Amino acid sequence: MEIIHVSAECYPVAKAGGLGDVVGALPKYQNELGHIAKVVMPMYKTKFLMNNAWDVVHKGRTNIGDYWFDYTIIKEQTNKLGFDLYLVDINGLLDREKVYGYDDDTERFTAFQVSVVDWISVWVHKPDVIHVHDHHTGLIPFIIKHCYKYQHLHSIPTVLTIHNAQYQGTMGWDKSYLLPPWDSWKWGLLDWKGAINPLASGIKCAWKVTTVSKSYLEEMRQSSNGLEDLLEYERGKCSGILNGIDVDVWDPATDSYFEDHFTVKTAAEGKAKSKKKLCDTFDLDVNKPLIVFIGRLVGEKGADILPAAISDSFYYIGRKMNFLILGSGFPEVEAQLNSLQRLAQKDYSVYIGYNEALSHLMYAGADFLLMPSRVEPCGLNQMYAMRYGTVPMVRRTGGLRDTVIDYGEKNGYGIVYNWAAVGDITQGIWRAVDLYNDSERMAEIRERMMLLDFSWQSSVLQYISLYEEMRHKEPVTESLPE
Ligand code: ADP
Ligand code: GLC
Repeated sequence: MEIIHVSAECYPVAKAGGLGDVVGALPKYQNELGHIAKVVMPMYKTKFLMNNAWDVVHKGRTNIGDYWFDYTIIKEQTNKLGFDLYLVDINGLLDREKVYGYDDDTERFTAFQVSVVDWISVWVHKPDVIHVHDHHTGLIPFIIKHCYKYQHLHSIPTVLTIHNAQYQGTMGWDKSYLLPPWDSWKWGLLDWKGAINPLASGIKCAWKVTTVSKSYLEEMRQSSNGLEDLLEYERGKCSGILNGIDVDVWDPATDSYFEDHFTVKTAAEGKAKSKKKLCDTFDLDVNKPLIVFIGRLVGEKGADILPAAISDSFYYIGRKMNFLILGSGFPEVEAQLNSLQRLAQKDYSVYIGYNEALSHLMYAGADFLLMPSRVEPCGLNQMYAMRYGTVPMVRRTGGLRDTVIDYGEKNGYGIVYNWAAVGDITQGIWRAVDLYNDSERMAEIRERMMLLDFSWQSSVLQYISLYEEMRHKEPVTESLPE
């Protein structure tokens, strides 16, 4: 089958979070099974763009409203990522340094989606599936079904994967002019609660909808930033497929971001060397357990309660552990984490920013990884941590619930707590210190975690059978909840 993934992110080209990791890996493993999976994404100004060679494969001209623009599709020449990678260049709109965060993101991602469809509309054949990811590509199923210019594509099956329902790309109806002329009887397929909602539109118009863990699928029906009723209504076409991790990139025996490689057998010594490097660099005490946090400093990740949880742990448990935080996000959280540095007694440090190499070293050198997420559709960090012999300390939610078993349970290996609350996190930290002091148990748990299989193997097969179900079928006519 020929599968076209359309996404705002793809590692190593451009990544802001787990979406990039998933789109950088899933197509590669689909190709290994003999399919032809391709990725189309915006051409940002990235190192990857500068350091690689490209062929121009198509030049086109289209518009969002009365803004006409030229777009160019370029393809990476060597297929070095294990799949065909296409970038959409739109001068002035997409060629920026960051992926998101601009005032005109609505125009940028609408222009991106229109260009992708415009390009596919001139192909001599049709792909078997268009697989779109998150709200930045959520309008594509609507565009190919209901925009007059592209209706000859309406029979191409579409899949929407929701990586995070918190973000929906909502725009006012005043922006409806950005879309190519469409059948106005179908306005209800764009609308959710009085605005154009690209994620909701994707849920309504895509043939199948997936999300990245079974638990998150259930949770979304209870809490998904206003989409609960819609997801309940569309439950028949929704399924949860757990993400895998790219075991070629995330392998402690070969990881290209640090030197002291290790396997299950040599984990104790290997991890100790990376831990020492971290402790030397960040002025921490190598003899205490090292608890790290890696991620976006936002409410979803529970980052706002980290400062209180860290100071309470020092106060109630004593200075028996180190904390090292890597992340960026809300300025207030960054400021609070920075100010904790003043109280550090060789047991706390923070790095504000994004640093891929440091993150790998932290997965390798840490003893524990803290994830007090309020919402976690899948979460990749905990899986990376486990493969690197680092015990995850997670809140029981979404993909964390589906991948981590508390070490108190049979064959367990992690620390699991119920609430993203200071008390629960602090109690988890107390359990971590306790576990660390039982070196035999710690070694046993480490081995158990490192042997778990979080590869893409089974999830890729689930995606393929989902695509198979849609093959040679007629598109379904959408209906709307009352
Ligand atoms: P999300 O996509 O919600 O941010 P995930 O757990 O799916 O969460 O994926 C996060 C990815 O981003 C992981 O690969 C993690 O290592 C990486 N990451 C997050 N913040 C940083 C950072 N500040 N520096 C380096 N890597 C980061
Ligand atoms: C999102 C989610 C995260 C998930 C990632 C990849 O960013 O927040 O939980 O792992 O997408 O699917």
